[in-house]
Amino acid sequence: MKKDTPKYIVSGITALGGLLFGYDIGIMSSIQQMEHYNAYFNYPDALTTGIIVSSLTIGCFVGSLLSGPLADRFSRKLTIVLGAMVCTAGAAITYGSINRAMLISGRFINGVSIGFLSSVVPMYQSETSPPASRGRMVSLQQWAITWGIFIAFGIDYGCSYIPSARQFRLPLGLQIVPSIALLCTMAFMPFSPRWLVAHDHISDARQVLGRLRTYGHASAPEVAEELRLIHQTIAYERENKSSSYWELLKFPNRRRTLLGCGMQFMQQFTGINTLMLYAPTIFRDMGFGSVQSIALFQAINGLVNVSLTVPAIIWIDKWGRRRTLLIGTVLIITFYMILALLMRSYTALTDANSHETVIINMSARNLGIVSIIMIYLVVASFAFSWGPCGWLIPSEIFPTHLRAKANSLTTGTNWISNFVVTLTSPVLLEAIGWKLFMAYSIIMAGNFVIIYLFLPETKNMTLEEMDILFMDTVWAFNAPWMPSWMPVPKKTRALLNSGVAAHLETGTAHNANPIVAAHQ
Ligand code: BGC
Repeated sequence: MKKDTPKYIVSGITALGGLLFGYDIGIMSSIQQMEHYNAYFNYPDALTTGIIVSSLTIGCFVGSLLSGPLADRFSRKLTIVLGAMVCTAGAAITYGSINRAMLISGRFINGVSIGFLSSVVPMYQSETSPPASRGRMVSLQQWAITWGIFIAFGIDYGCSYIPSARQFRLPLGLQIVPSIALLCTMAFMPFSPRWLVAHDHISDARQVLGRLRTYGHASAPEVAEELRLIHQTIAYERENKSSSYWELLKFPNRRRTLLGCGMQFMQQFTGINTLMLYAPTIFRDMGFGSVQSIALFQAINGLVNVSLTVPAIIWIDKWGRRRTLLIGTVLIITFYMILALLMRSYTALTDANSHETVIINMSARNLGIVSIIMIYLVVASFAFSWGPCGWLIPSEIFPTHLRAKANSLTTGTNWISNFVVTLTSPVLLEAIGWKLFMAYSIIMAGNFVIIYLFLPETKNMTLEEMDILFMDTVWAFNAPWMPSWMPVPKKTRALLNSGVAAHLETGTAHNANPIVAAHQ
C-alpha cells in the first residue's frame, strides 16, 4: 500500500455522504414531471410541489444546526454514522410513501441526515488530512456531490420509462444503497485525531495518525511532531478559551464566522442551483422543449459539473484557494453576462411583443445553442472554484474547540441560502428572465471584492496554524505571498519571519507552536 492510500480511503469513503447530498438535490427535479408520480399524489399544485421539494432543504437546515453539538460530544465519526442511519430511514419512508404527508416527512428526515453529513464530512476530512493535501481531500466531497446529482439525473431518466408507480419509487428508494454502504464502511474508519485529543484519548490519536501518515508506525517522529502541535494547541484552547457559541461572535473568531458563513452564502448566490435545477426551463424557453433534448442537455450539464471538479482535486493545493476562487469568479461573471445578452436577444427576436433591441445578431436556434454552451461554461467555472472552496474554507479556518459549532452554522447558512435561491428562481426566471443572470454577475463582482480583500490564503497551513491569519487584521494580505506594498500587522510579520513562512512554502512540520506563540 502506498503511503498516501489511507487518507484517500478515509476521505473517499466519507465522501459517500456527498454522494447522498447530491443525489437528494438532483432526484426531485425530474420526478415532479413524472406521470405516475402526479397521478399517485393527486396532481400536487405549485404550492404543494414547493413544500415537497423544500421539505428536504428545511430538514438540511435543521440537521446542520444539530450537527455541531453532536459532532463535539459523540465524535465526527459517529455523527456521520448517525447521518447514514437517518438517511436510510428517510429513503425507506419516501420509497413507501402512500400519501403526500408521508412523502414530505420522508424528505424532511432525509434532509436532516444531509444536514448532518454536509456539515460533518468536510470537517472530518479536513481534520484527518495532512495540510499539503487537505484541499484535495475535501474536494473529494464536492466531487461526490456532483456525481450524486449526475447519477440522480440518469436514474430519473432511466426510470421515466417504467409504466407504473415504480417510476418514481425506485429513484427515491435507491439511495438506500449508498447510505447503507456508508453505514457499513464507516465502522472501519478512524475517529478524527483532533477529536480524540480533545477528549484526552492521546494514545488513540497517536495510533490514528500513525495509520494515516506512516504505515501504522505510531512512534514515527513526524507523528510525534504533529501530535505535539495538535495537543499543545488544544490544551491551550481548553485552558484559555470558551467553547460556547458566543465565542464565534467575538474577536478573533468573529471575522472567521463572517467569512465562513459568507463563503456559503456567496456560493449559493453564484446561482448554481438556478442552473442545476431550473436549466430545463431555460432549455425549453430557448426553443428546445422535447423531453429527449431536455434530458440530454441536462445530462451534459451534470457531466460538465462532474468533470470540471477534477482540476480542483488535482491542483487546489498548488493553486491556493484565493487564486482558484478569483479566477472562477471572473469566468462566471463573464459567462453570465454573455448569457444574459444572448437571452435578451433571443427574447427580442422571438417575442412579437418585445420592445428590446437585438444585441447579438444570430438566428434564434444559434442563440439558443450558444446560450446553452454559456450555461455549461458557468457550471464548469463553478465546479473547480466555488463548489469545492465553499465547503473547504469553513472546514479549515476555525480552531478545534469551535470547529464543529462553527461548521454547523456555516452549513446552516448554505442551506437557508439554497432554500431562498431555489424558491425564488422559477418566479424570477419568469418575471425578469435574462436580468436574473445580470443580477448574478453583479453579485459575483461583489464576491470578487470580498474574496480579494478579506480571504487569506490557507493552503499548506496546519489547522493549528490558522490562528495566525486571523490574529490582528481583517485583511487578507498577511501571508508570505502578499503584495509587498501592503501594510502588515507587526505581530503577524514577526510570526511569519520566525519561520512559519518557510514552513508554509515547504509544507513541512514547524518546530515551535505558532499558535501558543501568537497569543503570548
Ligand atoms: C452546492 C450545491 C450545488 C452543488 C452543485 C455544492 O457545492 O452546495 O448547492 O447544488 O455544489 O455541484
